[in-house]
Amino acid sequence: MLEIYQHHVPTRIVSGEAGLLANCSPELESFRGTKAGLVTDQVILSLGLIDGFKSSLAAAGIELVSVFSDVPQDSDVETVTRAANQFQEAGCSLFIAMGGGSVIDTAKAANILVTHGGDLLDYQGAEVLTEPLLPLVVIPTTVGTGSEVTSVAVIADRVDHRKLTLVDHRLAPTVALLDPVVTRSLPPRLIAMTAMDALTHALEAYIDVAHNPFSDAFSVAAAATIRTSLPSALGDPESDVTQAARAKLQQASTMAGIAFGHSMVGVVHAIAHALGGVAGVPHGLANALMLVEGLKCNAEVASDRIANIGTLTGFVEQGAASGAASGAASGPDDDVTLSNATIRAVEVFRKQVLETAGLPLTLSEAGVTEVQIPWIVERASEDGSMIYNPKYVEPEELTQMIQSVFQ
Ligand SMILES: [Fe+2]
Repeated sequence: MLEIYQHHVPTRIVSGEAGLLANCSPELESFRGTKAGLVTDQVILSLGLIDGFKSSLAAAGIELVSVFSDVPQDSDVETVTRAANQFQEAGCSLFIAMGGGSVIDTAKAANILVTHGGDLLDYQGAEVLTEPLLPLVVIPTTVGTGSEVTSVAVIADRVDHRKLTLVDHRLAPTVALLDPVVTRSLPPRLIAMTAMDALTHALEAYIDVAHNPFSDAFSVAAAATIRTSLPSALGDPESDVTQAARAKLQQASTMAGIAFGHSMVGVVHAIAHALGGVAGVPHGLANALMLVEGLKCNAEVASDRIANIGTLTGFVEQGAASGAASGAASGPDDDVTLSNATIRAVEVFRKQVLETAGLPLTLSEAGVTEVQIPWIVERASEDGSMIYNPKYVEPEELTQMIQSVFQ
């Protein structure tokens, strides 16, 4: 069968130096005359990040008629339904999302309900939407989600303790505005968790079965930037070095989003979704805690891919394997050696990041209990991300992976 792949990023990405949000009316001209509904959260509102952006909206002739700021850390069906009802009553014809992944996914899912009606559970799965959505302008305020450029939204179903995954090309935002100024007020814990999410996107997208040369390019660029920028981004938020590092992470996060938006993610995300749904572990932390186990699991079948991205991103040096060092042709032994070295380097990196940010190093510290493990394994086994993992992972192995980082 012919191997064919395509690369399409429908979202217009506007990125650059700090100050973009207060000066982006030209980028919003195409929405002149619309009534906008803003999805955000209480923290973003209290930081005043919206203030400068309001002047851009006014200059572009966009009326902000409704603000929905009641979005929890992991948004749910009930929240999405309330946001949709509020925007429908206000007559919104443009969606704006300013926040992290939960806020952005709330806006995407509410857009479905406003344009299609019904119950959000009716729209889970892939490519089931039949109508165009309203335009969506996204301002990501973390450095991890990638949701500003993906066609995916993940929403919690509190009734059934699972995550709904909505996948449709119509969900891709219309415009993404990347202003580094929003990263300045992020606490190191949030920088660490969200950047580790982005690193997981980049590595899983590179390793999984749907990768292609175009997604590979974005994976490598994103992972290399996160490796070099994340440690500096955890420093004094007032320093120029920290702010420059955070700006780079913001762009790397979007690049990782482009990568996994095309080639998807794998077993690490499957477990992370389950850890979020069952035990409430923040998504980025869950990925950080499971990333090394996921690499070890996949090294059995994908050591060449792990070795490749390890060397291309600088986690290990070229020539670290004996064959490569002596100039001999590389082969499976070199791949295994370089893959192992990559996994060790990622493990050291992960530990350094979590410790510096004061984050848990085990699942039990993150609030997971032993009795939840079988439930987490069941949910992870059913997760759609598993389809793209290079290896079929038996429930027994999932249990071992979770237990090995439990304490
Ligand atoms: Fe993620």
